[in-house]
Amino acid sequence: MAPQGRRQPKQIAIYGKGGIGKSTTTSNLSAALSDEGYRVMQFGCDPKADSTNTLRDGSYIPTVLDLLREHRKVDAHDAIFEGYNGIYCVEAGGPAPGVGCAGRGIITAVQLLKQQSIFEELDLDYVIYDVLGDVVCGGFAVPIREGIAQHVFTVTSADFMAIYAANNLFKGIQKYSNAGGALLGGVIANSMSHPFQREIVDDFAVRTHTQVMQYVPRSIAVTQSELSGKTVVEAAPESGQAKVYRELARRIDGHAASTVPVPLSTDELKEWGALWADQLVAMESGEIRGQQEAI
Ligand SMILES: Nc1ncnc2c1ncn2[C@@H]1O[C@H](COP(=O)(O)OP(=O)(O)OP(=O)(O)O)[C@@H](O)[C@H]1O
Ligand SMILES: [Mg+2]
Repeated sequence: MAPQGRRQPKQIAIYGKGGIGKSTTTSNLSAALSDEGYRVMQFGCDPKADSTNTLRDGSYIPTVLDLLREHRKVDAHDAIFEGYNGIYCVEAGGPAPGVGCAGRGIITAVQLLKQQSIFEELDLDYVIYDVLGDVVCGGFAVPIREGIAQHVFTVTSADFMAIYAANNLFKGIQKYSNAGGALLGGVIANSMSHPFQREIVDDFAVRTHTQVMQYVPRSIAVTQSELSGKTVVEAAPESGQAKVYRELARRIDGHAASTVPVPLSTDELKEWGALWADQLVAMESGEIRGQQEAI
């Protein structure tokens, strides 16, 4: 139990298809929340263990599972490394490739910190889990299923496969919602470079009864910052892109009530995708114009 007077941190999980921008978004979110004065831990749940490196000048840290493999007893403090603005960085790590379940690894890593009352000791406001994307393996549903996170946000682009992965995630959230699982806070639309992409993500959000938390443009500032081992919030704090991440952080901070999404069935999703494909062809040929372009 938390010591008297200590609140529990808000625990958030960021999901999304592989390579969609989860770690970039999560690290910029952590950086922006810490700039607001919050005490933040970023917890990478990807066996690649590369979630937190832009918070640490591009350097990698030993993972909880590595430490557990090397030592019989692990002091959780040894798995926590300081990043930008005092952000606590942790990487769960994973089993040896091809062996074991990554989900189990996440449970083990979170349990180690919980058993040693780390969240209370560090008096955290936020723990943000960056979770490897496609919920094809039950293991990656762990942060939703095991009551580890309370709010889930999914990063998606307007690409069909990214939306397909988000819809699968919604199915997972719906499935575990009766058993006290995490609920959906909303969608973060990443890599926006054309108005029709917003329309696609907006339409998907409406149909699945959720909301878009922020539209994050595709930006060279992200690439430049990443190459210098930093978040945009740290490397280019005055840039438009940093403002977008700060606004996202404020919206997530102000967000209280997550909900159960209503995923599309496989057939509905296919039909929906086909309708958009027709619409895009029509847009390209000049037959119709995108709503936002027409304004
Ligand atoms: N808004 C953006 N603008 C430009 N580049 C971006 C943007 N978001 C992400 N990227 C780039 O896309 C690549 C993948 O991003 P990132 O590593 O954050 O994805 P991920 O979802 O965490 O991937 P993985 O599933 O492998 O963990 C990175 O090179 C990153 O710089
Ligand atoms: Mg990642």
